[in-house]
Amino acid sequence: MGLELKGKTAIVTGASRGIGKALACTCAGLGADLAIAARQEGPLKETADEIAKKYNVKVLPVSCDVTKLGDLENLVEKTRKEYGKIDILVNNAGVSSQYAFNEQPLEDIEKLVYTNYLGYVRLIRLVINEMMERKSGAIINMVSGSTLCDPLPRTFVTYASIKVGLKAFLKGLFWEIRDSGVKITSLLPGVTDTDLTGKLQNVSADASRLMSTEAIENAVKFALTVPANVCPLEISIINQRTPWVKPVIPFKQEHPDK
Ligand SMILES: NC(=O)c1ccc[n+]([C@@H]2O[C@H](COP(=O)([O-])OP(=O)(O)OC[C@H]3O[C@@H](n4cnc5c(N)ncnc54)[C@H](OP(=O)(O)O)[C@@H]3O)[C@@H](O)[C@H]2O)c1
Repeated sequence: MGLELKGKTAIVTGASRGIGKALACTCAGLGADLAIAARQEGPLKETADEIAKKYNVKVLPVSCDVTKLGDLENLVEKTRKEYGKIDILVNNAGVSSQYAFNEQPLEDIEKLVYTNYLGYVRLIRLVINEMMERKSGAIINMVSGSTLCDPLPRTFVTYASIKVGLKAFLKGLFWEIRDSGVKITSLLPGVTDTDLTGKLQNVSADASRLMSTEAIENAVKFALTVPANVCPLEISIINQRTPWVKPVIPFKQEHPDK
């Protein structure tokens, strides 16, 4: 990789494992210094040490629960104190919950909204003015390929509809501030081999249908290295045999005709 992001600073949330860790490595491989965030301090510190050593960049681990406004404010404050500015935000931390809606725990619904929607929107609000004043910055957001399905995949309607809302917010924000020099990008990955999918029923039963993080890493590299006057608004990264297409997920529900 080149060093196109040398001298830049990136915050990556949900970076202790999975897609977030892969994207933190992508930014570090391009030369950016990092602030990485997740809730559990141990794995976060291990990841920070690993990335710093491998890519020879600075990596600041900040324990942060993105559902808590105070934690987000602390993340931004610590990053500014360490590096003086924030050039790139990779909003990635997320949780899943796969249930028929009538059986979905009420606390999961709240967790999805606070993590997968409010966590993203609030963190953007905390960094956007600095980027707009500097007339540069990139905000990469992990949405989901499930938002491309209409109707949304069964047993994922809460998760996917919150991601649809997020995607709509991001597109609207892009148009609202498109003269500002700040880029807003939504990534729409298909089903990827991480701990998150490992926990889902049936999704990972046929591992050949899962994709690795490689194509998502390439998409982020693309988004962060296009010319200054170009913004990749939405990038879909769908595996050829994605389980979303058909039968989406093997369902518990019987078809009404049966
Ligand atoms: N895997 C897929 O197939 C897939 C497809 C499309 C989109 N996505 C999206 O991609 C993102 C990452 O997914 P993944 O598969 O990489 O998940 P993962 O392997 O479970 O990793 C999730 C990361 O987010 C952190 N995290 C979770 N809740 C958090 C919170 N409240 N505050 C701060 N950090 C939190 C976790 O660390 P801690 O637990 O220590 O906090 C971990 O670092 C999510 O937004 C997901 O919706 C995933």
